[in-house]
Amino acid sequence: MSQIIEALDILTPENKQEDQCSVKTTAEQNTGKARKLYIESYGCQMNFSDSEIVTSIMQKEGFDTTDSFEKADVIFLNTCSIREKAEQTVRKRLGQFNTLKEEKPELLVGVLGCMAERLKSQLLEEEQIVDLVAGPDAYRDLPNLVQQVDEGTKSVNTFLSREETYADINPVRLNSNGVTAFISIMRGCDNMCSFCVVPFTRGRERSRDPHSIVREAQDLFDRGYREVTLLGQNVDSYKWSSNSELKGKAQSERARETDIVNFANLLEMVAQVHPDLRIRFSTSHPKDITDEVLHTMKRYENICKYIHLPAQSGNTRVLELMNRTYSREWYIDRVDAIRRILGEDCGISSDMIAGFSTETEEEHQETLTLMDYVQYDFSYMFYYSERPGTLAARKYEDNIPLDVKKRRLREIIEKQQAISLKRNQRDVGKTFKVLVEGFSKRSDDDLQGRNSANKVIVFPKKHYHKGQYVKVQVHDCTAATLLGEIVE
Ligand code: SAH
Ligand code: SF4
Ligand code: F3S
Repeated sequence: MSQIIEALDILTPENKQEDQCSVKTTAEQNTGKARKLYIESYGCQMNFSDSEIVTSIMQKEGFDTTDSFEKADVIFLNTCSIREKAEQTVRKRLGQFNTLKEEKPELLVGVLGCMAERLKSQLLEEEQIVDLVAGPDAYRDLPNLVQQVDEGTKSVNTFLSREETYADINPVRLNSNGVTAFISIMRGCDNMCSFCVVPFTRGRERSRDPHSIVREAQDLFDRGYREVTLLGQNVDSYKWSSNSELKGKAQSERARETDIVNFANLLEMVAQVHPDLRIRFSTSHPKDITDEVLHTMKRYENICKYIHLPAQSGNTRVLELMNRTYSREWYIDRVDAIRRILGEDCGISSDMIAGFSTETEEEHQETLTLMDYVQYDFSYMFYYSERPGTLAARKYEDNIPLDVKKRRLREIIEKQQAISLKRNQRDVGKTFKVLVEGFSKRSDDDLQGRNSANKVIVFPKKHYHKGQYVKVQVHDCTAATLLGEIVE
């Protein structure tokens, strides 16, 4: 699997990179269907999860998948717009497909995802090679869009829906280790963080029917999976009322079923699928994470004690400009609640943006002191990249010079690496329950898995295999990984 890491734009411990900025492709699947589909996915887990929905839709339309674009009849790039570099990467990739298309004029090239939504038909004008543009809510229409191209016209659908959750579509698991899987529980985002393009590319927030989520978790468990990660841009605002499902039904019937399911309730429902099914979730929003969620996590051993709680900045004025709607003090209060309810071993991670508009040296220092306070296990770290159309692009000048942004980012990264190492050293000597996910990246004599706090642990395999829970005692570590030995 090729990895694209934006130089200094992101730096994370090596084994955590796959969450963002990596590229994932479809695997080879040969069931004798007429045409072959190749999908390359960029960006966040949401996009990877969407590619599994797209594959499911396309399989029903007579497509097998392939892991090599040379063999494909249709190439889809499922794209990300979060930073400028993410879009540049996709444009470069499209350029690389030019010669392929010259040799094979019937090849169909489609752009899906956030960049498709942001640029719409403009993408057809700017990138000659593109035949099809489909936004994140238009995937059910892909068979029609492909047919239009087959009939000789380029096709575009970037309609954003208020309802679409693809709840009834059974995703085809791609790049799967057969042990861990993602379940999308909501789509879109109603927050308006001033730097962020997601509300424009993914539309309004909507939650998926909890029963379909539980069914998907149960089905995965029955097929041998042992961990699910519930995905949403802001999982704490998950909210589903049975009323919304009953639009066509009689009033009386509607009145009876007005139960509201919030995120804590959903966590509990999924945790009850089976004690051996681990639950993770991402992303938590500091303004919305409740003590109720933390108490639910505590009650269920199988809900992992790990929270991705992006701070973005440690300074209240910058947070205000970012429109994050919390202060440094509020954020610290939420971290204190996590430590009080779930203890010191609960994993906490963050996203940080260096060099947002008008950020002073002192304000940047406050990001560093927040990191000292929280002691994050790891962070995704970026420098600010202005995105067209966002609140920040319209209201604030992108006035921190690139070299200053990069230097501040470097300071944040160095701080995080020191803290990650310290947090891992605390674990040396301890024994953890680990779900085995497969062989380690370096050797087939070693296995790797994660503990509840999301730390990667590598250990000699003995006679164990993926999908099993083992107890591992840690004897050494780096900033990124714990090393241990199975205790029987
Ligand atoms: N919903 C999640 C984040 C999704 S985007 C949340 O609220 O935390 C993932 C991360 O990308 C963000 O947390 C932020 O740190 C980073 N990011 C988003 N827009 C950015 C921009 N314009 N420049 C740099 N980093 C950005
Ligand atoms: Fe973007 Fe903010 Fe929504 Fe996250 S919560 S996706 S950062 S707008
Ligand atoms: Fe995800 Fe990138 Fe879109 S981070 S939501 S794929 S802009």
